[in-house]
Amino acid sequence: MKLRIAVLAGDGIGPEVIAEAVRALRTVAAFGGYDFSFTDHPVGGAAIRATGDPLPRATLDACLESDAVLLGAVGGPEFDALPPAQRPETGLLLLRQALGGFANLRPVVCHAAVAGCSPLRPEVVRGADIMFVRELLGGIYFGEPRGFEGAAAAFNTMRYSVAEIERVARVAFDQARRRRRKVTSVDKANVLETSRLWRQVVTRVGRGFPDVALEHAYVDSCAMHLVSRPASFDVVLAENLFGDILSDEAGVIAGSLGLLASATIGGEVDLYEPVHGSAPDIAGQGLANPLGAIASAALLLRHSAGLEEEARAIESAIEGVLAAGYRTADLAHGSGGRKVSTAEMGRAVELRLGDCLQRQHAYHAV
Ligand code: NAD
Ligand code: IPM
Ligand code: MN
Repeated sequence: MKLRIAVLAGDGIGPEVIAEAVRALRTVAAFGGYDFSFTDHPVGGAAIRATGDPLPRATLDACLESDAVLLGAVGGPEFDALPPAQRPETGLLLLRQALGGFANLRPVVCHAAVAGCSPLRPEVVRGADIMFVRELLGGIYFGEPRGFEGAAAAFNTMRYSVAEIERVARVAFDQARRRRRKVTSVDKANVLETSRLWRQVVTRVGRGFPDVALEHAYVDSCAMHLVSRPASFDVVLAENLFGDILSDEAGVIAGSLGLLASATIGGEVDLYEPVHGSAPDIAGQGLANPLGAIASAALLLRHSAGLEEEARAIESAIEGVLAAGYRTADLAHGSGGRKVSTAEMGRAVELRLGDCLQRQHAYHAV
């Protein structure tokens, strides 16, 4: 098994959390005798500093030639005053577009051990296990025209084609078939034309999946139900902007945004990144939670390498460190536990991952 992984650590806590994700992938490679190669490339603010461009051609080419891309985060206050086209975030959006993945999977699980870390009551979040399917290449993020009317006004365009809705809806129904067979499709069909089309197309696609229950929810009410009864959701399908907002909200269900991972599939090369941003407020202090990045590495093994057992081993190791009480600062306000740094958390996962892989190996040997 050979896997060329382009590593784009990016800005802020990106390099800190990605180092731990790479550590987990190296552990898997060493144990299984797999040939994983990792090459580092600048993106976002780091690339602006090095080359003046948030997505240098060399970085993009390297990504297109790789089997998977692992990205940390981009952005930071020092770049916020730049014109839109030169911002770190634009580099990320251009990369997503070039790689072509249109379905962004964002799993959100409330691990029993950290149910007490959520500001929501444990009995509310316990058992929550949601798969967000966020459309990633359309909607208001990319719609034209967009711009400023001098200093007096500004505008964006939310646009969706039938084909764009169909392809991401199929991914959501397909995910639901591997889970609890329910899709909640999010829209604002009481106000927006794009949402009316979204609802029609999702309903039509859903007829091809009669074994999957489909419900439609307005985004405002969905936002409320996500925190009042999170365990009632299975797959949540949303357009780009709604999915961005709701998935950060779901960080509260998991206990911390730092736990959330993502996989972007359906394009030339799949892209793996934690859901969180560059967290400039805690960068460079060993405070960042690397588990979202490490869980993104698990998704990489599942979707780009077909290594389901190894992906599960990483997920069990994450579960294991949380159950054993390891807590980065973002989770340390919950009950008990031992406060650890980013790297200590990464090493704790590495140790347990070795055990999990060993156990799988022993199981297959008998
Ligand atoms: P953020 O996600 O970076 O941080 C929000 C809050 O969550 C902060 O308090 C932060 O400390 C905390 N947090 C985030 N990740 C954490 C982790 N792994 N461990 C512990 N705590 C964590 O969002 P923001 O502050 O709104 O944005 C900061 C910058 O990141 C902005 O420039 C934004 O554009 C960018 N951003 C990038 C991405 C990405 O690259 N995919 C995603 C979101 C935001
Ligand atoms: C995310 C981020 C990005 C998005 C930004 C940084 C462009 O918030 O990955 O969730 O809005 O998609
Ligand atoms: Mn976001």
